[in-house]
Amino acid sequence: MKPTHKLLFVLCPMLVVGFIYYSSWKLRLQVWGLKPQSAAAETTVGLTKGAEVKRITESAAAETTVGLTKGAEVKRITELGTDIPVGRIVGSVYDKQGFLLQLDTKLPPELAYKYGNLSEGLCKPGYAAAKMTAIYPKFMKPAPMFLDRNFKRLAKVSNYLPPFGFRTQERIIDSILTATKNYGLGEALDSLNCKRCIIVGNGGILFNKSLGPRIDDYDVVVRLNQAPVSGYRKDVGTKTTIRITYPEGAIQKIDSYEKDSLFVFSAFKPLDFKWLRQMVFKEKLRGTEGFWKSVAHYVPREPTEIRILNPYFIQEAAFQFIGLPFNNGLMGKGNIPTLGTVAITMALHNCDEVAVAGFGYDINTPYAPLHYWESVKMSAIKESWTHNIAKEKEFLRKLVKANIITDLTNGI
Ligand SMILES: *[C@@H]1O[C@H](CO)[C@@H](O)[C@H](O)[C@H]1NC(C)=O
Ligand SMILES: *[C@@H]1O[C@H](CO)[C@@H](O)[C@H](O)[C@H]1NC(C)=O
Repeated sequence: MKPTHKLLFVLCPMLVVGFIYYSSWKLRLQVWGLKPQSAAAETTVGLTKGAEVKRITESAAAETTVGLTKGAEVKRITELGTDIPVGRIVGSVYDKQGFLLQLDTKLPPELAYKYGNLSEGLCKPGYAAAKMTAIYPKFMKPAPMFLDRNFKRLAKVSNYLPPFGFRTQERIIDSILTATKNYGLGEALDSLNCKRCIIVGNGGILFNKSLGPRIDDYDVVVRLNQAPVSGYRKDVGTKTTIRITYPEGAIQKIDSYEKDSLFVFSAFKPLDFKWLRQMVFKEKLRGTEGFWKSVAHYVPREPTEIRILNPYFIQEAAFQFIGLPFNNGLMGKGNIPTLGTVAITMALHNCDEVAVAGFGYDINTPYAPLHYWESVKMSAIKESWTHNIAKEKEFLRKLVKANIITDLTNGI
């Protein structure tokens, strides 16, 4: 053997052994993750192609971000608890409807500063909308309470049929608005720089609570359908600023109408606009087949005391706030919000502070009457085809929990 051959004969096995040793050292590094973290994560993904490992590295990356960024945002996220997978954090701050999961938030600092010098109990300008935006960033305050002569510019409602819009009813609305001539609450209320509104629901929970004086304290008192005042003043107050009504809910006894309130019409079907036109123009009522119960034949109100509620509040309550089935934007099973929730939605856009009374029921009095003015008991509630009371209550609970609305009767 030549000396060069001998050298090669020795070198080859050494090279092979050396290579094997080097490789195994590198492998151990990879397995135990001794390299810098970000590289290790990449290597792991490279070696094992399973989805399992990929998810692990993603969650590890998310953890790193939480550790690095100390901002309040991240801190709040981590406080959310263990039931939310760390890797999905960013999408989980809001619920399906777009509301913050962590609702009992304090006043944002800029609001705390703004209201800091107001004495206790004074109306806080912009409060309801600001708090609403804090827990529901999609909220856009501007939405007029009533339709006016420019109603066709309201893009959000012009493409929907009633109750979610006014499509097909433009001409009839035009003729009604020409007669009503007024499109606001009246000069005194419209010029207030801070309005406190209360929506008085019809629930039996109002009965015998002597809340009348507190209700009358609000600038705007909203009542619904035929809810009576006379005979119940101690509990429900004496003032009615607006009464929101659909045809089947309208007061039928002429002398039960209050003197100084606006008759605010809320349409739930195309036929309702036809009914309103007959009421406004004091025509003889014709064509009552499409109503689900008897309707008023005469509304003792001047056209100037009649308003049309912006149907946007029905649309927004149903599809954005409560999350009822969209059904191509058409009325369908269980996708109509109750009038009370529609009124609250209206107030969020048009009042600085919002309170409610007579909503929900008191679990301590299960035999309370269904309505504050009659003796039908709670147990008479039936499954409704049009409403979804449970989902609606979920929405109202969020408003109460976040202190956006004050519930005087604690029923929500
Ligand atoms: C509140 O009052 C303090 C001191 O009186 C003043 O410095 C501050 O600017 C006031 N804040 C607002 C929002 O008016
Ligand atoms: C109403 O409440 C008072 C006490 O606040 C009570 O004495 C009275 O019995 C109640 N009336 C009814 C009808 O429940």
